[in-house]
Amino acid sequence: MADNLRPESLQRITTPELANAFIEEQISALRNQIGMKKVLLALSGGVDSSVVAALLIKAIGDRLTCVHVNHGLLRKGEPEQVIQVFKNQLGANLIYVDAVDRFLDKLAGVSDPEQKRKIIGKEFIDVFAEEARKLDGIEFLAQGTIYPDILESDGVKAHHNVGGLPADLQFELVEPVKFLYKDEVRVVGLALGLPESMVYRQPFPGPGLGVRCVGAITRDRLEAVRESDAILREEFATAGLQGKVWQYFTVVPPFTSTGIKNGKRTDDWMVIIRAVNSVDATAATIEELPYPLLYKIRDRILAEVAGVNRVLYDISPKPIATIEYE
Ligand code: XMP
Repeated sequence: MADNLRPESLQRITTPELANAFIEEQISALRNQIGMKKVLLALSGGVDSSVVAALLIKAIGDRLTCVHVNHGLLRKGEPEQVIQVFKNQLGANLIYVDAVDRFLDKLAGVSDPEQKRKIIGKEFIDVFAEEARKLDGIEFLAQGTIYPDILESDGVKAHHNVGGLPADLQFELVEPVKFLYKDEVRVVGLALGLPESMVYRQPFPGPGLGVRCVGAITRDRLEAVRESDAILREEFATAGLQGKVWQYFTVVPPFTSTGIKNGKRTDDWMVIIRAVNSVDATAATIEELPYPLLYKIRDRILAEVAGVNRVLYDISPKPIATIEYE
């Protein structure tokens, strides 16, 4: 456990100067640990794994292989941003795995939330292990473990956890940000040159949009979640709310309601808007959104998202509601 306690000598990283000093220190520590060997990293595009990737690219260049698994439950534009930032800008050795059909086929007809999470988690490990087996000479596995993961859950990263890899794929761990808090990881990310939209991302659950397409996931309803979420995020950014509201997203329940369009009855989905503030996700309050903003989001969703005829605004705090719907 002593190995897992933040060293007292580590100053809180609050400025670009402190971040640069941390980055320099980590580069030499990583080079010492890894030598000329190779490292594998599951790169989700979240802040933690992105910062680890950027650090390792600086330290060991193309001896890092990143695997980005697109499970079809990512937000609009996310896989493209990972490719753009890591492959095109940072020159990373990036393997992009399009596993969309594979995940959605396994999830078809599954409505139980825990079962959905299990399938997504297991499939992720399977896809990642298959990619790892194709590579030669990997000895290390890098992980974006951060200090709260160690304090709260015995070092197990609840989301994108690749700790469950099979016995033939046991690697030595590389965890360069394991003593940092989230705000420090963000300062380091900015100092590494990662885009603000990546560094200040709101929390996003491991099962992604899968838990916001409530019940059994269908492709059309999943697209309604993805498109409405993209509109919501765009309008929040325009309104200056990005980075100010803790978590905001849309949800599409698995039932339809009656509407009317061009004089004809419709039977379409509804989109629920959720926007909450929280410190650590154990409790959450509602962000009071101005009505003109809600109307703008509503108008865009009704005009641009196929198969939707109704927009609702969820005003339930946690407790009694949870933040996500399942
Ligand atoms: P709830 O819905 O329990 O969510 O109020 C609390 C926070 O946790 C996130 N969340 C998840 N994160 N895997 C994750 O990595 C999950 O299965 C999961 N479920 C919920 C949620 O987005 C919120 O920030």
